[in-house]
Amino acid sequence: MAAQRITVNASSGPYTVHVERGALGQAGVLLDGLQEPASRLFLLSSPRVWRHWGKALAAGLKGAAQARAILFNDAEAGKNLRTVEQIARTLAQSGADRKSVIVAAGGGVVGDVAGFVAASYARGIRVVHVPTTLVAQVDSAIGGKTGVNLPEGKNLVGAFHQPSLVIVDPQLLRTLPPREFRSGLYEVIKYGIIGDEKLFATLEQGMVSLVNQEAGALEHVIQRCVEAKARIVSEDEREAGLRMILNFGHTTAHALESTTRYRRFLHGEAVGWGMIAAIRLSVAMKLVEPEAAKRMEALIGAAGKLPRLPAVSRARFLEAMRTDKKAEHGRIRFVLTEGVGRTRMASDVPEDLVAQALSSLRTGGRVNRR
Ligand code: GLY
Repeated sequence: MAAQRITVNASSGPYTVHVERGALGQAGVLLDGLQEPASRLFLLSSPRVWRHWGKALAAGLKGAAQARAILFNDAEAGKNLRTVEQIARTLAQSGADRKSVIVAAGGGVVGDVAGFVAASYARGIRVVHVPTTLVAQVDSAIGGKTGVNLPEGKNLVGAFHQPSLVIVDPQLLRTLPPREFRSGLYEVIKYGIIGDEKLFATLEQGMVSLVNQEAGALEHVIQRCVEAKARIVSEDEREAGLRMILNFGHTTAHALESTTRYRRFLHGEAVGWGMIAAIRLSVAMKLVEPEAAKRMEALIGAAGKLPRLPAVSRARFLEAMRTDKKAEHGRIRFVLTEGVGRTRMASDVPEDLVAQALSSLRTGGRVNRR
C-alpha cells in the first residue's frame, strides 16, 4: 500500500490525513511536520488500545521524553462531561500549556472526548488523531466534530475543532474485536449508499473480503472513504448543507443509542438499523425504487447480523428523535435516499410513516408506499 496524503481544507488551515500501513511507526516524523513544534505531547487513549499499541506508539514517537499518557474508559456510556473534566484536570495538574498537543489514539469515543478536551482546554489546543477502529478511520477522526453525550441525547455538548493531523494505519485494525470491526462496516456501507455507483458496486462485490479483513480490499476501501470524507468536509466544514449527507441513518441511530443508554449498540450497529429505517422511509415516500432499496438492504445484511432492537415505546422513541441535533423547530429530520449517490433531507416525513418504519424493522415487514 503506497502512502496516501489526503488534504482536508478547513477554515483553520489545511491538514493532512496520512493513510499508510505501518504509519504508526512514523508518528514522530509526521508530528515533526506540524507547523509549530509541540511543547509537550499528551497521549490520550483507552487501557485496551494502550495495551495493544501503546509501546508501538511511544516507539513511533521516538520515545518523546515529554510525552505523558492519560488513559480513560472508552465505553460510549462514559462519553460524558465527567470524563472531560477528569482529563482536563489531569492536563492542568501535569502542566499542559497552549502549545501542548494531544495525540488521541483510539476509537470514536477516544477521538470525540479528546477532541472536545482539545477544543476547550486553555480555549483550544492542538489535537492529532490516531484512529484505531474502522469507524474512526473512515469517519469520526476526520472533520473536527468533537463532543460528549447527555442522557438526553447523543453528542449534544461539543464543538467543531479540526485536528492538525490524522494518522490512519490500517494495521491497527488487527487487534479490533470482531464485533467492533463489523460495526465499522456499516459506516463504510453508508459511504457506498451516499457515494457513487462505483464505490457501492465495489462494496457489493467485496463485502466478503471486507468481512474477512483482507488487507488489500480493506485498505482500498479505507482510502476511498477517507477521500470522500475529506472532500465533503472541505466543501462544508460546519454542516450547512452537503455534510448533512453523512448523517444518513443517524436520526434513528442516535435515538436507538440514547434510548438504550448507549449500552446495547455499537455506534455502527445503530447506524446499520438507522440506514434500513431511512431506506424504508424513502420507499414509503416514493423517493427510491423498491429494487434499489432491496440492493441497499442486501448490502447492509451482508455485513452480518445486527443486535436485537430494544423494546422502547413508540412515543419515547419519537421523543428521542425530536431531541436529536438534526431536528429543527421540533421536527424530526432525516437524510433519505433517492438511489445510490443521491440523498435528500426531509423534515416533512409524517410521524405515522416513521412509526411504521420503526415497527417494520422489528417485523421485517414493509412500509406502505404513499
Ligand atoms: N460523522 C459525520 C460527520 O462527521 O459529519
